[in-house]
Amino acid sequence: MQKAGPGSLQVISDFDMTLTRFAHKGKRLPTTHNILNNRLLINEDSTKKMKELLNTYYPIEIDPSLSPEEKLPYMVTWWTEVHELLIQQRIRKDMLAQVVRESSAMLREGYRVFFDCLAEHRVPLLIFSAGVGDVLEEVIRQNDVFHPNLHIISNYMDFDHTGVLQAFKGQLIHSYNKRDVALSHATALRELHGRPNVLLLGDSLGDLNMADGVSEAQNILTVGFLNDQVEERKESYINSFDIVLLKDETMDIPNVILRHIV
Ligand code: C5P
Ligand code: MG
Repeated sequence: MQKAGPGSLQVISDFDMTLTRFAHKGKRLPTTHNILNNRLLINEDSTKKMKELLNTYYPIEIDPSLSPEEKLPYMVTWWTEVHELLIQQRIRKDMLAQVVRESSAMLREGYRVFFDCLAEHRVPLLIFSAGVGDVLEEVIRQNDVFHPNLHIISNYMDFDHTGVLQAFKGQLIHSYNKRDVALSHATALRELHGRPNVLLLGDSLGDLNMADGVSEAQNILTVGFLNDQVEERKESYINSFDIVLLKDETMDIPNVILRHIV
């Protein structure tokens, strides 16, 4: 990958808990869905319901004793129920920037070096997220790193003409269908063609499928951020990713790898 240089490279990264921090000063930080769990957008009942859904389904998402196939129906239910709840609450597009500003979400330490370096060397960065696209875009914008080399595949909100959420666009993306989604987007992302070397970053085993749409891939270097339930999941992560980072809240290792290539 180093020999081929930046002209042959593309970076494919998950968003929640991969580009964003999992925790800061001992406190968990929110995913894009959880940023929306703000009383400016939804009522008290829905806040409670969203927390209950998280407490029910997140343990299933990260359970090392279940296979991706076993988790899949639970993930579909979780995402579908939360999206329905958000639609019922008639979320307003013009409130999104404010709830992102009020949230404690943070990009990982060293994020600016990462985003700026890729932009400077014209290396495409595909952010492939089962989170909420409108929210993740706002997080990136508010951190001043929304550069032209960015491509995003995510769950985008569909607002009516008055700016009220009425649906989510396109195929639902959850943590364990990234392979199907990658294949269905493969031809559309022209800027990614002819770049056979991939640096892939993720925090879930489902993220390993994000590069399945890359045609004629030569080298795929995978980096896994293991944030939670470290001891229980370490073995499966080490068996699946090339590099596993344990409770590392920084972009230091991806940045070192990039420095060798560009
Ligand atoms: O960007 P990424 O693909 O990581 O986004 C998905 C993450 O969002 C999942 O890992 C899941 O834990 C989290 N999630 C959430 N609330 C939901 C649905 C998913 O926090 N309602
Ligand atoms: Mg993630």
